[in-house]
Amino acid sequence: MKHYKIASIPADGIGPEVIAAGLQALEALERRDGGFSLDVTAFDWGSERYRRTGALMPEDGKEQLKGFDAIFFGAVGAPDVPDHVTLWGLRLPICQGFDQYANVRPTRILPGIESPLAGVGPGDLDWVVVRENSEGEYSGHGGRAHRGFPEEVGTEVAIFTRAGVTRIMRYAFTLAQARPRKFLTVVTKSNAQRHGMVMWDEIAAEVALEFPDVTWDKMLVDAMTVRMVKQPRSLDTIVATNLHADILSDLAGALAGSLGIAPTANIDPERRFPSMFEPIHGSAFDITGKGIANPVATFWTASQMLEHLGEPAAAARLMQAVEAVCESGIKTPDIGGNATTREVTDAVCEAIRASNI
Ligand SMILES: NC(=O)c1ccc[n+]([C@@H]2O[C@H](COP(=O)([O-])OP(=O)(O)OC[C@H]3O[C@@H](n4cnc5c(N)ncnc54)[C@H](O)[C@@H]3O)[C@@H](O)[C@H]2O)c1
Repeated sequence: MKHYKIASIPADGIGPEVIAAGLQALEALERRDGGFSLDVTAFDWGSERYRRTGALMPEDGKEQLKGFDAIFFGAVGAPDVPDHVTLWGLRLPICQGFDQYANVRPTRILPGIESPLAGVGPGDLDWVVVRENSEGEYSGHGGRAHRGFPEEVGTEVAIFTRAGVTRIMRYAFTLAQARPRKFLTVVTKSNAQRHGMVMWDEIAAEVALEFPDVTWDKMLVDAMTVRMVKQPRSLDTIVATNLHADILSDLAGALAGSLGIAPTANIDPERRFPSMFEPIHGSAFDITGKGIANPVATFWTASQMLEHLGEPAAAARLMQAVEAVCESGIKTPDIGGNATTREVTDAVCEAIRASNI
């Protein structure tokens, strides 16, 4: 029997609702599988803690998380706390502190879910977006001067390093190589941004030589949005900077039916630290407490977590259960159904129990 230590950080808004659903499905998988157990420790970090203590997580938060095998994260953000405070107070310190430099965002149209794109169904849109997760536009470099005066300036400096770009390129090429189409699209904005982005293109070409069996092409990020909408079948694995991939993967989630199904894994590929798994979506203030948050993104990221932990059979069983439930029409309102979070979760757990793969 293998044992894994999981840190759960539900945090804000619908985070606790979808993490509770995810943990229920993980428990059902544990029981169905019998070969592993999850020892889950919950952390009450988030905006409520910020209101009480002035900090979203304790100062030694990273130390507390270090010994875990993985982190299962909900969402952070509250209407009364500025978004840059919540993001930089919890999620980014974990991603950057644990050097989770590869952010992996699979997207495909699940059976029973309708894409807003006409004539596009399951199999027509099957992508993995790889987002550089440690530097670029979210490095935190920059500042403000002459605050409040007419001559006030604010700078936001994007940092691209050869080491950082090379490692994410290798990760993306390796992932593309493992997928049936062996095809990677490298996204930049190297026409307008002629320093860091041109270096990104050059490094892509260098790393490509290590992967002769992977076909690759290049896109400017603006044209990429058009290609995603007009020619979804022409894409497979996609690599882009922290900011570009952040935006493109939200678009990808929406094109696959809803943000409520899109998962993300913040991976430390060298496994020096725990990796973190979360839905792409945020706290969703508009539906918090209504019991209708779509738990599918959280199930999908739980499947990514199981895969990362070395439990591919349980990971596959979970996705198979999610697909069967979506196909049967038990869906939350964001994807055209009228089921609650609980009804979808119970149906997925039942499908896990009944599964015979
Ligand atoms: N990783 C994170 O923690 C993260 C990511 C994005 C936004 N945020 C934060 O969340 C807050 C709200 O941000 P936002 O409104 O821009 O984005 P959001 O993802 O919270 O919501 C966008 C829209 O998608 C819908 N939606 C999102 N998840 C859903 C789900 N599981 N089921 C059904 N519908 C769902 C919401 O109802 C809303 O209409 C902000 O404070 C923001 O900073 C956090």
